Amino acid sequence: MDFSIKACEWTKGTTNGFLTGKSDCIVLGVFESQTLNGAALEIDTATKGLITRIVKAGDMQGKSGTTLFLPEVSGIGASRVLLVGLGKQDGFGQKAYGDAVRAAWRAILGTKIAQVTFTLSQLPVQERGGEWAVKAAILALRAETYQFTQMKGKPEPVKRNLKRIVFSVDAADEKLAKAAAKEGAALANGMDLARDLGNLPGNVCTPTYLADTAKKLGKEWNLKTEILGVKQLEALKMGSMLSVTRGSAQPPQFIVMQYQGAGAKTAPIVLVGKGITFDSGGISLKPGEGMDEMKYDMCGAASVFGTLRAVAELGLKLNVVGIVPACENMPSSTATKPGDIVTSMSGQTIEILNTDAEGRLVLCDALTYAERFKPAAVVDVATLTGACVIALGHHMSGLFSKDDALAGELLDAAREAADPAWRMPLDEEYQEQLKSNFADVANIGGRPGGSVTAACFLSRFTSAYPWAHLDIAGTAWKSGAAKGSTGRPVPLLTQFLIDRAAQ
Ligand code: BES
Ligand code: MN
Ligand code: ZN
Repeated sequence: MDFSIKACEWTKGTTNGFLTGKSDCIVLGVFESQTLNGAALEIDTATKGLITRIVKAGDMQGKSGTTLFLPEVSGIGASRVLLVGLGKQDGFGQKAYGDAVRAAWRAILGTKIAQVTFTLSQLPVQERGGEWAVKAAILALRAETYQFTQMKGKPEPVKRNLKRIVFSVDAADEKLAKAAAKEGAALANGMDLARDLGNLPGNVCTPTYLADTAKKLGKEWNLKTEILGVKQLEALKMGSMLSVTRGSAQPPQFIVMQYQGAGAKTAPIVLVGKGITFDSGGISLKPGEGMDEMKYDMCGAASVFGTLRAVAELGLKLNVVGIVPACENMPSSTATKPGDIVTSMSGQTIEILNTDAEGRLVLCDALTYAERFKPAAVVDVATLTGACVIALGHHMSGLFSKDDALAGELLDAAREAADPAWRMPLDEEYQEQLKSNFADVANIGGRPGGSVTAACFLSRFTSAYPWAHLDIAGTAWKSGAAKGSTGRPVPLLTQFLIDRAAQ
């Protein structure tokens, strides 16, 4: 699909070819108030009051999510008009805009329309600029067209008719909007990669599959990729990570990817992604119901892959390291048992009271490994706790950090990218729950504040750099009828890095 941006000052009579330019469809918004403005007003005039008549007749009342095609329109270059209900004009914000845009794409994708002139991008959205509107529209379109058919025996061939979209923006927004369109496409590519990896089943997306994906990504995007196997993990004394993989027939893979967009001496941002390709719980076996969803337990890793892809496509001027500790968590006679005590790479000993709290066990060694990059900051991303889903539901990722500046940057990025996160506590008081009678620390802290004690566990391995942790257990995938990976938090992470690169 080809996206382009063109300035158009509808109200000033300089329509830059938008009135006469040929296309299969021009998309116009109508508020519930039914007063036409901007593009809709100009097109109404050019079509001798067609839109006014339709609105007066009650065929388009401006209700959010409604759409109406007007075929065989004359007087303008476009052969059809698509009217899209916008809802209330007062307080027209991000959510209402998203709803309208999605409705428009759904209507268009069900037709043979190939070329679209899209003017919703010029609507004034509360607290957002024209460039944001373009990016959001591209992301919504890509989300609508995403399909995961790799695992179907005979995937139905999907024919996509939509080829070319021209977005109208205010002249003042043109330059930023062009950059935003590129960002939108790169971000969507990164999200698609993350979604594909998340959706693949555990018997295909193994640790080795993730390692192969990293190598491919490295070749394609010029990333330095290194894969450490069991021997190397032993040499590094990663006793904690090794304890998780012990029950599995699949070899663990410790993946390190380096993107260099700044001078070699510039301290990198390190992203660490939990890569448990299947989490059965191990000897502390999970209940059967819904266990299939634990194939998504590598979505942290997938988001690191997706973010690196987006960063490389955008050529951001900063250095980023992606670290993915990948393995399975399985029960077997060689598996780690509750009560076992292991020694992490940091030297701290860990009493494993529950083998299902495995994410923190692979992450802690990855966080220690990250020290060698002398990072400017480390952000880990993990489907870490069911408790985080209970605390925040499926809308917000949990953000944990003792570093107010870093937390602030991530929250700003989350807001900007419409990939929301909520800051959670990380106070020392919670550390007491992790006391072990036999080792330096226990791997679980009981049910109260389960996502907080998990983050507290990780914090013990992060004293060497500014650090933040994102618990994405509630946001990385959807359950139910629309079961599938969401691609989050690739938007948040990519925006964070875009902002860092601009500093
Ligand atoms: N991968 C799970 C977390 C999870 C659970 C994500 C449900 C999404 C939905 C993690 O490894 C896990 O099993 N955590 C346990 C920790 C507990 C044993 C302290 C949990 O959350 O129940
Ligand atoms: Mn688990
Ligand atoms: Zn897990």
